[in-house]
Amino acid sequence: MSVEHNRVEQSPEKSSDPDAHASSTGDSSAYLESCTAADTSGLTLAKGRAGLIALLSGWDSLLSPIPEDAIRKGLEELRLNREALAGSVNFNERDYQRNLVHSTATYEVLILCWRSGQRSPIHDHGDSVCGLLVLEGVATEASFELNPRGSVAPSQTRRIQQDLA
Ligand SMILES: [Fe+2]
Repeated sequence: MSVEHNRVEQSPEKSSDPDAHASSTGDSSAYLESCTAADTSGLTLAKGRAGLIALLSGWDSLLSPIPEDAIRKGLEELRLNREALAGSVNFNERDYQRNLVHSTATYEVLILCWRSGQRSPIHDHGDSVCGLLVLEGVATEASFELNPRGSVAPSQTRRIQQDLA
């Protein structure tokens, strides 16, 4: 399966908790993508940058690939905004922007930033596991299947909203 990500709209501010959403400019979307992962069971993450550092430190200490459920749990526990990600939230007016946050031999973490209407090309993640967390706005992920004739056709689309919990 291949996927294409793009940003479609900015969701309205819904929370007064400064750690629950970003200080949005109203026309941006940021998305944390973590490919492959580690065991963080039992770890309770702090809010903000400290939580991200703790999560990545835990993953770095693993000697084996990070299990999918550990990626999901780790991303769900993060509470990040632009301040926490200072220096890693960068947009490009011509195309979506990939910002590498952390990379090891077994995984990498990126902040992906789209302006309205920008999209990533159709791609797949090979044999890796990929987790994502929408930090601002709403992302749309379109999935594609390779049909028996060798052409690619869209199969489903899903909208992924920022988690303000
Ligand atoms: Fe992707």
